Amino acid sequence: MKKILVTGGLGFIGSHTVVELQNAGFKVVIIDDLSNTSINVLENIANITGTKPEFHQLDLRIKSDVTSFFKNIIIDGIIHFAAFKAVGESVQKPLDYYENNIGSLVYLLQEMKNRNLDNFIFSSSCTVYGQADELPITENAPTKSAESPYGNTKQVGEEIIKESCKAYNLNAIALRYFNPIGGHESIKIGELPLGIPQNLIPFITQTAAGIRKELSVFGDDYDTIDGTAVRDYIHVVDLAKAHIAALQRLINKKNKANFEFFNVGTGKGSSVLEVIKSFEKVSGKSLNYKIVGKREGDITAAYADTTKANKELNWKTEKSLEEALESAWKWQLKQE
Ligand code: WQD
Repeated sequence: MKKILVTGGLGFIGSHTVVELQNAGFKVVIIDDLSNTSINVLENIANITGTKPEFHQLDLRIKSDVTSFFKNIIIDGIIHFAAFKAVGESVQKPLDYYENNIGSLVYLLQEMKNRNLDNFIFSSSCTVYGQADELPITENAPTKSAESPYGNTKQVGEEIIKESCKAYNLNAIALRYFNPIGGHESIKIGELPLGIPQNLIPFITQTAAGIRKELSVFGDDYDTIDGTAVRDYIHVVDLAKAHIAALQRLINKKNKANFEFFNVGTGKGSSVLEVIKSFEKVSGKSLNYKIVGKREGDITAAYADTTKANKELNWKTEKSLEEALESAWKWQLKQE
């Protein structure tokens, strides 16, 4: 049974990926510093799959701790989620973001090099494209200088991995996520609501649940179908399954280069108002919202051309926007 290390494995995307790894027959070891999640997620994963993953609370910014952790472990791959991910916060605290997102990546890659480990999956983001010139966005689209330190840590992170793969003969895949949303059908794991939500879907569900007074829609004069910004919202379980496909590509040595990257989205763009309408339909709730000014740093539209991932990873999304929104709403109702 192959063993996979998942950093940030108790987080939103990490926990869903751990479930799919176990479903696919992998043994899982989780590292998490619990800075943006709860230890309860570990039990919830075990309740879903029947197997409790091995867990180590570890801060990947502490090199000595990372080195001693790797002394006693043999693994067949690493999926690296652990990072700070709030765009707005990263503008306020850039050094925290570089220390954590870049520092921990460098320490992990050093351990892989020193211990002959291989098969690295990196959590990247469509943020690397900025506002793409053409839509849908293919992997040939040029990356643009990041609008935030968070986005820069993804761009720089990909460069560090690419150069390390070349120099040390490692094999890695970066998955460029579009907008992950929703939760597991068991309603045992989902997007933990810690603090005021920065992202659209948790803000919508908390507004519908009466926790927030109303949703502010950031701008309605974009050059889009209804003036509100367009994104590619992908069910987190579909996203999790893309990680299994990418990992198996590396383990089975099907990759065509040391470093590869794939867009992971549905291929469909939805505007904020379209999302609100879909949410109202699946929840039966009328959402209280108002149109306000644009949010700084936001782009007009982003949605994926998924041809490369469909073909090379033999993976495609199976769940609709409505199913994702319904799972997000069910998760919200469970929080009360
Ligand atoms: C989606 C749309 C907002 C909140 C970011 C990161 C990306 C990834 C996902 C980490 C936009 C609008 C939002 C609100 C709104 N992060 N909106 N009112 O900005 O596309 O992507 O989060 O992995 O890397 O860049 O996601 O959910 O914040 O916004 O109108 O209260 O909803 O303007 O058009 P975003 P988001």
